[in-house]
Amino acid sequence: MLDQLLLDCKTAWIKAKVQKKHPFRYCTLVTVRPDGLPDARVVVLRDYDAQNERFTIYTDARTPKVEALRAQPNAMLLFYDARKLLQLRVEVHCTGMHQDRQKYKQQHPAAQKDYTTTLPPGTPIKGMDAVTYGEQDHFLVVEFAAKKIDFLRLMRPNHQRAVFQKSANQWEGQFIAP
Ligand SMILES: Cc1cc2nc3c(=O)[nH]c(=O)nc-3n(C[C@H](O)[C@H](O)[C@H](O)COP(=O)(O)O)c2cc1C
Repeated sequence: MLDQLLLDCKTAWIKAKVQKKHPFRYCTLVTVRPDGLPDARVVVLRDYDAQNERFTIYTDARTPKVEALRAQPNAMLLFYDARKLLQLRVEVHCTGMHQDRQKYKQQHPAAQKDYTTTLPPGTPIKGMDAVTYGEQDHFLVVEFAAKKIDFLRLMRPNHQRAVFQKSANQWEGQFIAP
């Protein structure tokens, strides 16, 4: 049963890579700022490597999350499927950030543009339309390795909850009280 739950999670992430409407396509990335305060934001799950349990997102290299992850690589990815009342809290470790020309070029031109704002994201501007774009892009690929998964599915008569911890490249599962 525990093995099946873990397999279901992996299958869902594999599907989320290709199905644009999959509930796990959007997840919440939680990081810790250098001042110790938490930050959470929605990101798109761009890739999931089921062999190595690696999650990939894309971002602008100038965003505060990048600085936060450099200082504190431990983070969390939160997934929620409203139809199944399923929550997955995945403790992750940022394993690397790099530029990738090929992946950038694979983006739709409108999406490419998002990474080319003249001013870094978060800079005050005069109005919503006062956004300008330059030639240079700040596209960055960020990868995370999963360390622990907290699985919770609200059900009747009992909610299902289990944790999976990775040690020596093996997942160990344990049911816990919901
Ligand atoms: C639907 C949706 C999808 C988003 N996808 C991404 C994404 O894939 N990568 C990203 O960096 N920001 C994405 N954002 C913007 C982030 O939520 C966030 O506002 C931005 O990255 C700045 O984050 P930071 O200041 O905490 O670094 C998305 C926002 C929304 C509403």
